[in-house]
Amino acid sequence: MSDQADKRYPREIEIPGELISQLRSASKVAALTGAGISAESGIPTFREAQTGLWARYRPEELATPGAFQMNPRLVWEWYTWRRELVANASPNPGHLALAAMEQRIAGFTLITQNVDGLHQRAGSGERAPVIELHGNIQRIKCFDRGHQVESWEAAEIPPCCPTCGSLLRPDVVWFGESLPPQALQAAWDAAGACEIFFSIGTSALVEPAASLPIVALQAGALVVEVNPHETPLTPSAHFNLQGPSGQLLPSLVRSVWPN
Ligand code: OAD
Repeated sequence: MSDQADKRYPREIEIPGELISQLRSASKVAALTGAGISAESGIPTFREAQTGLWARYRPEELATPGAFQMNPRLVWEWYTWRRELVANASPNPGHLALAAMEQRIAGFTLITQNVDGLHQRAGSGERAPVIELHGNIQRIKCFDRGHQVESWEAAEIPPCCPTCGSLLRPDVVWFGESLPPQALQAAWDAAGACEIFFSIGTSALVEPAASLPIVALQAGALVVEVNPHETPLTPSAHFNLQGPSGQLLPSLVRSVWPN
């Protein structure tokens, strides 16, 4: 954990002893993250009201193929705004704590619904790749044929695919689209095989990610939720760590591995 993390969040939050001892002896742990883990990095979550320029729009209304077809410029510009937010943001102590957990637990799998890449920038993914269920905002592909594009002419908005001429879009999963099958299978396998499953900073509303803690529960895993608010998962979780992940996760890591 960095010194900066300790200064920003000096208060030690009490972590249940039973969870500490289970985590100390666990060999297979999976964690699913959502927009809440990046909230303390200044990236707005999906279900809180947007501010400024974008206050008139709901993210669910922009993140769809239909919205892009109807108004490609609007959707491209919204993602350009989010891409710039992400590029200027830094991983927070919650991201850093998960990277530290990966170093401590050989069978640690990190699954994220986020497209911001902040986990990788915090150091996650060195031992096993971060499973990105909803793609990555920094990658661009074309709408019609999915050609991956590294660079584009900014003269037109949205720009066009240099190979087939169709419009370019971010390589993220929109509502109504399928998740990358390999990523989904890997997430499902990790949820079914782990001893402890963390659901962190997600509203637990969007399928199929919302089913992952249920898969873990049914396979007998201990399920831990980290969220300042209740979600549909809260009543089923064995432990509810109620608060911001940027405080709770560093506190958890310090409690489990004090040295
Ligand atoms: P949401 O915006 O639905 O939920 C964010 C969750 O984070 C809420 O439950 C908050 O209570 C919680 N939260 C807020 N601040 C937090 C903090 N500091 N620490 C921990 N938790 C905090 O985001 P997701 O659940 O990630 O999909 O949304 C899932 C998917 O729906 C997204 O990936 C996106 C979306 O619309 C697509 O775009 C396909």
